[in-house]
Amino acid sequence: MQPFSHRPVVFLKENTMSYHITIDGEHFNCPKGQTVLIAMRTLGVDCLPVGCCAGGCGVCKVIVLEGDYATKVMSRAKVSIEDEAKGIALACRILPESDLTICRVKD
Ligand code: FES
Repeated sequence: MQPFSHRPVVFLKENTMSYHITIDGEHFNCPKGQTVLIAMRTLGVDCLPVGCCAGGCGVCKVIVLEGDYATKVMSRAKVSIEDEAKGIALACRILPESDLTICRVKD
């Protein structure tokens, strides 16, 4: 009889929860705590333009049609308080808190 088990050890990632994101018909998963734009870029999905990734240039402007989210700081020159109230946000600053359905906003 062997003193130790030989079962494989499985290491679980600490943060494995993710949300399903739909942008203009494209689908991908966004890990909890990651912004939509970074998740999109990491997975090689190409449905939004990528600029500064810091909420300043506005090229990733979207409107969130369904779902809950938080945002990091966004340039008020790109997203006004009124826009934000309508669901307009910058994908590089959106932190999903549920599955999201998003549409690109073209200026
Ligand atoms: S990439 Fe510049 S504001 Fe999002």
